[in-house]
Amino acid sequence: MTLRYVTTNPGKVREAEEYLDEVAALDYDYPEVQATGLGPIAAHGAREAYRYAGEPVIVDDAGLFIEALDGFPGPYSSYVENTLGVELTGRVAREAVDEDAVARAAFRCVVGYCDGDDFAATPEPVDRGERRGQDLAADDRDTATTDAQVAGGDDLPVKLFTGVVPGRIVAPRGDGGFGYDPVFEHDGTTFAEMDAAEKNAVSHRGRALAKFAGWFAER
Ligand code: IMP
Repeated sequence: MTLRYVTTNPGKVREAEEYLDEVAALDYDYPEVQATGLGPIAAHGAREAYRYAGEPVIVDDAGLFIEALDGFPGPYSSYVENTLGVELTGRVAREAVDEDAVARAAFRCVVGYCDGDDFAATPEPVDRGERRGQDLAADDRDTATTDAQVAGGDDLPVKLFTGVVPGRIVAPRGDGGFGYDPVFEHDGTTFAEMDAAEKNAVSHRGRALAKFAGWFAER
């Protein structure tokens, strides 16, 4: 059975095809919940998309987490990109650290998978639609949840896979990519200076998809 990837971005499907045999786009504009972590957003989307499509789905949610800004913009990355803008966000991040200090940041991506059935326990968490506490660190909220913590929820289970790529915020360089790519440097190169293949090989989405694909092959 073909796995459906909820996205209108053909680039994301091409990236997923590097890890998965049969995957096709599902154009479904689900209402995004507002949450302080990527996990609950991806879980909600996967649940809604599964209810809509009636077949196995994956949904991803991603964002840029800047250490000196306590994880900002995180799940609000798209909104902040469209309001504050990438360059100003980058400048704020660099001003928030001492001169010569590195403005550390990470792109994070959570892939949520739902096929209507429950999951055997593995290290990756399952979201069951529970309400979570507010006391987890901003960039830990996706991974800190364990099956034990979420056992109270009773909604459709969604398996979550997180990918992280560390880097630093720099003055903009490069014309490729999208979003925060020009200000995000990984191993000396900004994401906007990499071609698609180079970026996919290290990207947060690639890492989350690779984890998911390894698990899915056994499912
Ligand atoms: P999405 O969940 O993949 O739609 O990503 C949400 C937002 O996070 C995007 O609108 C961008 O602002 C930012 N973002 C996520 N991934 C990337 C990336 O690989 N490069 C640059 N910006 C990204």
